[in-house]
Parts: sequence; structure tokens; C-alpha cells
Amino acid sequence: MSKQRVLTGITTSGTPHLGNYVGAIRPAIEVSKSPELESFYFMADYHALIKCQDAERVEQSRKEIAATWLALGLNTDNAVFYRQSDIPEIPELNWLLTCMAAKGLMNRAHAYKAAVAANEESGEDPDYGVTMGLYNYPVLMAADILMFNANKVPVGKDQIQHIEMARDIAARFNHHYGDHFQMPEAVIDDKGSILQGLDGRKMSKSYNNTIPLFLTEKQLKKHINKIKTNLLEPGEAKDPDTSTVFQIWEAFASAEQTAEMRAKFEAGIAWGEAKRELFELVNGQLGEAREKYFDLMERPVDIEDILQQGAVKARAESAPFIEKLRQAVGLRKFS
Ligand code: TRP
Repeated sequence: MSKQRVLTGITTSGTPHLGNYVGAIRPAIEVSKSPELESFYFMADYHALIKCQDAERVEQSRKEIAATWLALGLNTDNAVFYRQSDIPEIPELNWLLTCMAAKGLMNRAHAYKAAVAANEESGEDPDYGVTMGLYNYPVLMAADILMFNANKVPVGKDQIQHIEMARDIAARFNHHYGDHFQMPEAVIDDKGSILQGLDGRKMSKSYNNTIPLFLTEKQLKKHINKIKTNLLEPGEAKDPDTSTVFQIWEAFASAEQTAEMRAKFEAGIAWGEAKRELFELVNGQLGEAREKYFDLMERPVDIEDILQQGAVKARAESAPFIEKLRQAVGLRKFS
């Protein structure tokens, strides 16, 4: 049997934060080390254009995300690492799939439905501000996945529906044109890998409560000090299970360190002290990668080179495959 293929995309509209690291980047880099699996990781920069029309932001985010993955040790000999927009076969497949995607299916997509519901709530036209990009989002995502016939797709819970849609579209294509696509499966991070942000809600750019992954030491300390805590005094027992400080600690610490910190919470560690220890732990683990990151960000041409090589590897698959699909749908050379 051939190796199972893992594929995931990162929308390039923001700056990577600790939540991205713990929930997605760190596990993905781990997976890429497994000899039993093939990993395809890419920057979903076409997807970024759907929600971000600030060209400089898109450019900067692609660079930051690429530098982040590389600085954290993604080995591009093991993983195929590329930008979606460097693979012209993806938008081509997007069209073939668009012609297989039921409009009614797209009507049910959460992101689109949420936009319509918000419009209706505020008395706007239901389609106000809804682009075809947003509407077609799931088809483009299906093209990303099916282009490389991925088996496993690690994503957040909010993306499960998109994987189901990809299967649906793939099945329809197979039904019409023969067995070209395998059915991808979502792989969901377990609950433990969703980090809380500064205010205790899920760490997310949209809540503006993130701790960016690569900050100077001073800035990192400042962010950690901003984590919301309660008013319990030093000496008063604190509940680790409802504390963001403890939760972030746990995401970085060994089991033994976690048990020690739990005991300190129960013994009434001062918030200031807990935060100081958290800073030391996180700073210690990210220090080396941070240096690599800032160094890489100074050498964008080297990042470009690495991504170009990734695109060559990816296209070695996508180019012959799209040719096969063109044949399948009847876009054939006359002979
Ligand atoms: N939509 C995904 C997200 O917002 C990003 C993405 C784009 C993706 N294409 C993909 C994830 C293909 C997995 C596979 O998180």
C-alpha cells in the first residue's frame, strides 16, 4: 500500500500566534517526521484574498507564515511545502470541480450562511458584501485537497464541513468521469490543543486576544502579563483548570512540570510569579526558533527559493494529474 498522505493549508491573512503553534504548527511538524506518512503543507494565499484585501498584509503574512514553519524546524526534504498560488493546476481544478459542485450544497456552507444571517439581522440585502470568493470557498478548498489526493486533512472543527463538501464534490466527479479521487478525511485536533487567549476565550485573531509566536523577550513578557486572571491574593489557592496561565503552561510543559505547577496553584502561587515562570518556559522553548525566524525574515529571497523548490515538487504531481483530469472531462488534443 502506498503511504498515507497528510495535507493541510494555512490561510495567509494573519501573524502566527501561540494558539496556531500549539494547535496546528507543532503537531504538523511532528507528523512530517513520520516515515509512514507523506506531508503536504501549503500557504492558502488564494483563500487569503477572500477575507483580506490589504495587499501588504497578504504579502507580509505569507512571508511570516513561511518563515515561522521553517524556523520551527519543518524539514522540506520530508514535507512538500508550497504556496497555493504557485500551483496553477489548483485554480484549474477549481473550475472542473465548480462544475460538479451543487449550488444547494454551497448554500449550506457555514461561513456563507453566517454572512447572510448577519446581513438579515442588520436589515441589509442578504447578499450584501458576499463575494463569489466567499461563496466558492469550499470548492477551492476541495481543489487544494483533491489536487494531491490527500487522505488525511488536519483542520479545526470549523472546517469539518468543508472536508465533507470536498468528499461530496469528489464523489460526484468520480461518478461522472471515473475513479480519480480518493475520499479525504478530516483529522480534528483534540480539545487539549485549543489554546485560550489573553481574555480566556479561544485564542484567535478575530477576538484580538492572541500572543504572537515570535515576539522580542520584552514583548512576550508584556503579553503574558496581560493574561486575564482573577483577584485571588498570593497564598490563596487557585484553580488551575479554569486558568489561562495554567492552560498555556500545560501546552508547553512536560507532564512532570505540569504536575508541579498544579501543586503550586493549589498552594496559592502569586499570579505575578506564575506568569514569570510561564514566561521563562515559553521563552526557553521558542528562543532558538525566534532567532532563526528573525534571521529568515531578513532573507526573503532564501524563503522564496525554498518555496520555489516546494512548488516544483508539488507540480511534479499536479501537472500530470490535471492532464489526466482534462482527458477525463473531454478537454483533449485533437488527433
Ligand atoms: N480553510 C482552511 C482554514 O481556514 C485553510 C485551508 C485552505 C485548508 N485550503 C485547505 C485546510 C485545504 C486544509 C486543506 O483553516
